[in-house]
Amino acid sequence: MGNSVFKLKDTNTKYAFSYGFLLNRMWPYIKSVLPRTLLLFALAVPLGLLDGVVAFALRPYMDYVVNGNETQVYELWGHKIYLQAFCIKFIPYAIVVFALIQGLLKYTCNYLSEWTGNKMSNILKIDLFKRLTAMDTKFYDLNTSGLVLNRYLSDPEQATKRLIETLKSFILSIFELVALVVVLLVNSWKLAIIGVGVMAIAITPVTFIRKKIKSVSNATMVVGGDMTTNVNETFSGNKIVTAYNLQESQNLKFENQVQKQFSLTMSLTKRVGWMSPIMYFICSIGIAIVMNYGNSLILSGEMSAGSFASFVTALLLLYKPTKSLGNTLTSLQTTFVAMARVFELFDLMPEIKNVDNAKTLTTIGKIEFRNVWFEYEKNNPVLKNFSLSVNPNETIALVGNSGGGKSTVVNLIPRFYDVISGSISINGVDIRDYDIVSLRDNISFVFQDNYLFSGTIKENILMGKPNASESEIQKAITLAHLDEFLSTLPDGMDTVVGERGASLSGGQRQRVAIARAIIKNSPIVILDEATSALDNESEAIVQKALDNLMANRTVFVIAHRLSTIHNANRIAVLNDGELIELGTHDELINKEDGRYRHLYEMQFGTVSID
Ligand SMILES: Nc1ncnc2c1ncn2[C@@H]1O[C@H](COP(=O)(O)OP(=O)(O)O)[C@@H](O)[C@H]1O
Ligand SMILES: [Mg+2]
Repeated sequence: MGNSVFKLKDTNTKYAFSYGFLLNRMWPYIKSVLPRTLLLFALAVPLGLLDGVVAFALRPYMDYVVNGNETQVYELWGHKIYLQAFCIKFIPYAIVVFALIQGLLKYTCNYLSEWTGNKMSNILKIDLFKRLTAMDTKFYDLNTSGLVLNRYLSDPEQATKRLIETLKSFILSIFELVALVVVLLVNSWKLAIIGVGVMAIAITPVTFIRKKIKSVSNATMVVGGDMTTNVNETFSGNKIVTAYNLQESQNLKFENQVQKQFSLTMSLTKRVGWMSPIMYFICSIGIAIVMNYGNSLILSGEMSAGSFASFVTALLLLYKPTKSLGNTLTSLQTTFVAMARVFELFDLMPEIKNVDNAKTLTTIGKIEFRNVWFEYEKNNPVLKNFSLSVNPNETIALVGNSGGGKSTVVNLIPRFYDVISGSISINGVDIRDYDIVSLRDNISFVFQDNYLFSGTIKENILMGKPNASESEIQKAITLAHLDEFLSTLPDGMDTVVGERGASLSGGQRQRVAIARAIIKNSPIVILDEATSALDNESEAIVQKALDNLMANRTVFVIAHRLSTIHNANRIAVLNDGELIELGTHDELINKEDGRYRHLYEMQFGTVSID
């Protein structure tokens, strides 16, 4: 069963640097929000340019304030521009108006960015959820809930919302940068070269730490997954935790994980945190040079005071977009890593799926296991050449040593797993040739510990047949011997059961599960240790409910209390994955040195045939 295919690596980022590939795969999601995204990006352009406008407006205004000239004349690349004094007086008000426009644009951009980001993230999440629900049992065997949850909760957001935000801030920064650099050049190209040169030097360190961030962010994911698993287990296993006084060790485990996360965060901070101060430092050198040189330009009359004020303002404003451009790279990388992980999940195709032209299973005839071999782990067979033919409406009991493969046999029928070799057929047709949904529609399961979903008892029963009528529900409740219990509840079948049905007793939970199976009314019933966890009293009533469920169906029953399988038509004895005995109770009990007889003697002391 090539396990490795399904096992998620904690940090797989096989595609993390295949940008084209990833974007290509993101395209359908991007496309779904494309018009608004384009609008967002289009609005980011004027928003970015506005900073430059404000810096530029300072020049005539400062010159007007300092020189008091009524009309200003500017030489701009050979053209003469005349600015009347009354225009200049309006500049402060114009700045207010600009700020207002900028505010409106900002609001719209934020709104659009949230809308598109969340929309895209939701679509991706829904697709991913569908993929997860379609995954094979094996996938859930192999991956911890924390790992899956963590992947599921954070990666889709990172891959979508963050992508939009990063691209938005990229466009914004680019245009802020362009506008401000133009302002610099217009004011003095000599100073501009110095200013821009220094900025360029200041952001170079950013490009070096990309990989470091990636490795730490992966490690953080691993710890995050472990933490979620730990919290999950502590919650759902709280009784064991309490009973075995494991609080201390669980706390310690959690503390260690928190500590590990802390060190990772700090190591990232250590690696990244020095960047900002260094950038500031380099920039301050640049500003010092600019101020000195600017001073001499003003003195030599090459630059006006207004020009200089405008220049310095633009230079200071330049810091923000420059820095944010630097962050864009790391942020994009994070996004791509998340995308890589998301698409890794998408690429896990369920192994168990319909063949082309799958047949629909309608009526159930003979069920036949023929030379079935099965293994969970390579070269460790759990079923060895298992063959068994079960007639319609026959009740077949499976007994044998613990770990002998009984549950495995019945798990193969609804194709939780597929056989390695050999075959299982119904009506002479391999079950792999049937449509999986139709196959599973024909099978009801009652396990030892049945999962009830948070919700009401009625909702849980209806899962067996969502469109069942009131009278069908009532009938199922009666047959499952739930009447009396439900009548003691103020809300009856509308009573809410806690997560996993925590507020019900074992026997009550079992009967709800049986009602669910009864209402499903499927021709094949599988009972895997359905009464094993119960005390004698609840077992008696659950057994009555089970008898109703089993009537006129093909039943596979696994029970370690041999008294419950007395009435089976035939009993199959499994030992370490091999079928060693098959026959009725009477036949097997009379077999000298028989395994069944031995098991029976162990439970009841002596053999008494009743
Ligand atoms: N999901 C699984 N992954 C790996 N090994 C498994 C899994 N389920 C069962 N096994 C192993 O397969 C063997 C048979 O298990 P099972 O069919 O549950 O036995 P039984 O129901 O007879 O007690 C055991 O050795 C068990 O450890
Ligand atoms: Mg079992």
